Amino acid sequence: MKLYTREELNTYPLSLTYDDLSLVPTEISRIKSRTEPVTKVRFLGYDLGLPVISSPMDTVSGINMCNELDRLGCLGILNRFDSSLKEFSSTSLKDNKIKAAAVSLKTDEELLSGIREKCDIICIDTANASNNEVLSKCEEIKSWFDFKVIVGNIANGLMLQQLVDAGADAVRVGIGGGSVCTTSIQTGIGIGQASSVLDVVQQRQEKKINISVIADGGIKSPGDAAKALALGADVVMLGRMLAGTKETPGEIIKYNDQLWKKYRGSASFGVKMKGEFIEGEETMVAYKGAVGNVINSISDGLRSALSYMNCMTIAELQQKAAFAVLSNSSFLERLPKK
Ligand code: IMP
Repeated sequence: MKLYTREELNTYPLSLTYDDLSLVPTEISRIKSRTEPVTKVRFLGYDLGLPVISSPMDTVSGINMCNELDRLGCLGILNRFDSSLKEFSSTSLKDNKIKAAAVSLKTDEELLSGIREKCDIICIDTANASNNEVLSKCEEIKSWFDFKVIVGNIANGLMLQQLVDAGADAVRVGIGGGSVCTTSIQTGIGIGQASSVLDVVQQRQEKKINISVIADGGIKSPGDAAKALALGADVVMLGRMLAGTKETPGEIIKYNDQLWKKYRGSASFGVKMKGEFIEGEETMVAYKGAVGNVINSISDGLRSALSYMNCMTIAELQQKAAFAVLSNSSFLERLPKK
């Protein structure tokens, strides 16, 4: 079986996703316990205890979620769809722990000026960052205020330099891989998430481009998060993994003797205006209780991965990661059986 470095994997003839890959330890580990590795990263000027950020979706990132993620050493991005932004603008500065908010292409200088008093990271929340409208908006925002700007989304690194030239500080990587996303079905656009992340990271490295990479979409488990980081992403962005927790906006629904919460795509029927194109679905996810449990499981999984790989830090993991490409039967064998 061939072991691939990141460079080699990026020349693999097929597009790959997390389920196609496995991390392969190649050294005797010096790590005694999974409490030893450090999962800390620096992202857009902030120290995060764990490289996890929430997707700015209306069924994921409200004020409670963002505050709780901050408390847990992660980063929440307040969604732009419900009343959260308005509520956020009217909370007192003293209580505010929210560091990032999503905005649309229509957001004007006045609204941004209110947001700037409360936080210094803005996410221009669009489906396609490789678009003149997005680049112009990014330039405009940068000319008005000193926000750190996240743009998205892209599926390869071909246009990375143009994003940076427009002032982008971070980019969401992934088109078509989100768990409620129908973009690929509707449009035929999008490649495997692992290949997307890898291509962007490799282009960044080869061309010495300064931009943070967010692996966005398709992360279903702590192991997928470990793989995304090993591929070179600076942080992972989660939708479904955080959906259904106590801190998400929305009611708990009792159905068939089970508890559920709604989870829907930002381009789904429920969010979009009448007549707009639909590229997302709406579903129910089982109620998970406190988001802290999800974050702990990701932290534990990542620490354990670092320990297997003989790495004390995520940076070390990114240096020495070796990957196997799994056959479909190998992938299936890895799943627990009923
Ligand atoms: P998940 O973690 O796999 O559920 O993916 C979350 C990501 O899916 C988000 O961060 C967005 O990039 C993407 N996404 C959210 N809503 C939609 C949609 O309606 N259509 C397509 N992609 C979406």
